[in-house]
Amino acid sequence: MAAVIDTMAGLPRSDIELYGDAALANPHPAYKALRDLGSAVYLDRYDACFIGRYADVAAALTDWETFSSASGIGLNPVINDAWREALICTDPPVHTERRALFSTALGPRALKSVTDTIERRADELAERLAARSSFDGVADLACDLPINVVMELIGWPIDVRPSLLAIAESAWNGAGPAGPRTDSGLQTLQAMMDLIADIYDNDRVTPDGYAAQLVEASRAGHITRETAIGLLAGYIVAAFETTIAAMASGAWLFATNPEEWDKLRADPRLAMSAANEIVRMESPLQKFARFVTRDARLSDGSVVPAGSWAIISYGSANRDERQFAEADRFRIDRRERQNLGFGQGPHNCAGQGLARMELSAVFTALAKRVSRFELVGEPERIVNNIAYGFARLPLRAVPG
Ligand code: HEM
Repeated sequence: MAAVIDTMAGLPRSDIELYGDAALANPHPAYKALRDLGSAVYLDRYDACFIGRYADVAAALTDWETFSSASGIGLNPVINDAWREALICTDPPVHTERRALFSTALGPRALKSVTDTIERRADELAERLAARSSFDGVADLACDLPINVVMELIGWPIDVRPSLLAIAESAWNGAGPAGPRTDSGLQTLQAMMDLIADIYDNDRVTPDGYAAQLVEASRAGHITRETAIGLLAGYIVAAFETTIAAMASGAWLFATNPEEWDKLRADPRLAMSAANEIVRMESPLQKFARFVTRDARLSDGSVVPAGSWAIISYGSANRDERQFAEADRFRIDRRERQNLGFGQGPHNCAGQGLARMELSAVFTALAKRVSRFELVGEPERIVNNIAYGFARLPLRAVPG
């Protein structure tokens, strides 16, 4: 990545350690400091600009010609090369064609057919959890639907399913700036790409799943083997860790904000807006990078120069007090509904319908049986360059 420091002269600068342990475990003080400095802040340590105000993040995500994904979404050249065929690393028109392969599988019609399965599984889960004296909000609550329903829908071979979850979280570390955490993420990423290649070459995805549709498109000659493998990666890194993080975060938010749980119990129709509010507050994917192809003027008049890298932060935008009243407060009936936790523009999350359905089904089922959640131990955050969530969340669900 070439140094662009001279052309950044007009921007505020910061040496904040955004990818250090402390900021990854709790990024919000750093985000606020950076938002208050300006629409874009040049980060000395990473040779990239941070964009964290809602209005600027929304505009950058929409303006893909200026804030391009085609050079990659990571802060190092290794991941950007390894992922050049991934959906998130393409721009239109290539992106538009490939995205269609996901839209059918994850669109409203396909989702309708899985509603009953998801709701039934969520009911069984709620019944089990309410009967237990304590449980882990990650392994026992949040992983249930992604492992038992979504793995099946996608069609990953049964024997690799247990290892996919660990791979998914750790692989996101590979999108960070140079350093040991990123190096270890890149190693996992390589192992993941090798695993996908092996599954593809040996025709191991289960028939009728989402993954099979990508494999069929490739066997029919519509996309190459490399593209199919790149696109299949999206069904590992995007589909599990994100929803698991959101589900555990939701349980934690409800445990620490019992009045919001009472609201949901009183009016279960709030379940979908609760799902959105969880994603706003906790943003399971905190930030990606974009390559700036031409000078970009932001809302405060500052200019991010062509040729630089920009860190676009969903997590910061979602807590921007310029956009959200009491931005740090969890309110499931909040008036400002729109948030950027699922992205925006051409790359907006292809699986957001499925993710919202899972979240809403689980919390609706729990609301019927649980009067409140209690923390029965110290929650442990994951420390990851991109993902945000919990490693452990000791909980009790008080029946009622
Ligand atoms: C709460 C759960 C989830 C969150 C917070 C989330 C978040 C996001 C975000 C922020 C992006 C935008 C990336 C960008 O701007 O470059 C994205 C893209 C994507 N997501 Fe999700 N996601 C979730 C669940 C899922 C699920 C369940 C699936 C699939 C089953 C999925 C599949 C995808 C795919 C394929 C993309 C790439 C879209 C594109 O590049 O056009 N996601 N997601």
